[in-house]
Amino acid sequence: MPKTIIVSNRLPVKIKVEKNEFKTRPSEGGLATGLGSIYKKGNNIWLGWPGQPIKKESDKAKITAQLKKDNMAPVFLTQTEIEEFYEGFSNETLWPNFHYFNQFAVYNTGLWKAYQKVNRKFAKEIAKIASPNDTIWIHDYQLLLVPQMVREMFPRISIGFFLHIPFPSFESFRLLPWRRELLLGMLGSDFLGFHTYDDMRHFLSSVNRLAGFGNSNGKMTVNNRIVMADALPMGIDYDKYASEASHPDTLTKEVKFRASLGDVKLVLSIDRLDYSKGIPQRLRAFEMFLERYPEWRDKVSVVMIVVPSRDQVEMYKQLKEEIDLLVGRINGKFSRLAWTPIHYFYRSFELSSLSAFYRMAHVALVTPMRDGMNLVCKEFIASKLDKKGVLILSEMAGASKELSDSILINPNDMEEQVEAIHQALTMPEAEQITRMTSMQESLKRYNIHHWVNLFFDRLGLVKAEQKSLETK
Ligand code: F6P
Repeated sequence: MPKTIIVSNRLPVKIKVEKNEFKTRPSEGGLATGLGSIYKKGNNIWLGWPGQPIKKESDKAKITAQLKKDNMAPVFLTQTEIEEFYEGFSNETLWPNFHYFNQFAVYNTGLWKAYQKVNRKFAKEIAKIASPNDTIWIHDYQLLLVPQMVREMFPRISIGFFLHIPFPSFESFRLLPWRRELLLGMLGSDFLGFHTYDDMRHFLSSVNRLAGFGNSNGKMTVNNRIVMADALPMGIDYDKYASEASHPDTLTKEVKFRASLGDVKLVLSIDRLDYSKGIPQRLRAFEMFLERYPEWRDKVSVVMIVVPSRDQVEMYKQLKEEIDLLVGRINGKFSRLAWTPIHYFYRSFELSSLSAFYRMAHVALVTPMRDGMNLVCKEFIASKLDKKGVLILSEMAGASKELSDSILINPNDMEEQVEAIHQALTMPEAEQITRMTSMQESLKRYNIHHWVNLFFDRLGLVKAEQKSLETK
């Protein structure tokens, strides 16, 4: 019976050691719920790193057995691999380059070698469990070389790849010394999905200019094999967020949070700690808003949640310090005894708390400098059961292509951000409801299940076309 193998750097769960026992808890991110319906079925499996360096062979065996019960298999990384492959090449080379932060990018042959080595490790783990009729779905920028590595071992196997972050323009991508190898790695896939049309276009342009394969409507011929690329924006599990928003736990928390915050309008900001998210720029815009519209002082507060992430990487450490300083400065300047402008949390929250914040927020401020998609804005919309609330969204987020009923801003334009905050806080309810209704309709239809089905349909079509050409 052919199976589906999902492969990503992180498994949908993280291993935690508690009282000498290994416990699992969900990793952050929306992928796990979306792919739950796939990997939990039959003999399907999800392969990835369990998020901890595990040294002892006996511990590895225990973790492997535990994960197996839930259709998962671990790829263990050593401490050095975590530093060089994950924190290093993935997050200090590819991440900044793909997000147009080239001034932060590190170009280091040692890190590149570690990336090749760990991608090979993933490919070997896939080979241990794969059969030629299986389907393999590889995810994201940490594993760009894996498709071709698997292709060499299984020339006809079905391989899909999805990139969850932006694919940069040729002018950024060409800066990478290993640009051609990275593209050839990706082209081992049969079908490649991107969040937006522009990401796909950038990819095709780099393939054409650096690897010499032209395309017609996303279709290429690579070593006599048809390869297809397309834009497939990822959705959320809409029903999960909508039903969480009416759950009794959420409602209890909302009452508690409201009582603590007092009678203010709430502006919500939720991100992983990342310089691509535009957090300092957002804080400065809120500061400017309070300067320009003093009548709003003590009538509006920001709840800013920053979820710790990649905190061993230098640029993330620096960003954390910058945010701490800015929040301190702004609160120091404007606070009153009975009012705090910014409530800042450097931690993650459970879903019911997030849902309570989504319900309470008058405005969600989602202003990344660059973001592949951004799911927070979609979760906010799905949680708005009364359809009241306004989304301010950066044009640089993939989600902006779908959510044109938000207030779209350029995150570099402070004036525009300040005015957007004012417009959002004073928007008539009828207009809020009209905008929210249209965004909800679209997110309900193009949900995560739709995305998964579309991906497998596209991959199936490419395989069928390859077969029909072989038989001609
Ligand atoms: O946005 C890309 C992504 O890899 C997501 O898939 C993931 O949720 C997030 O970044 C966090 O990544 P990390 O594995 O580095 O914590």
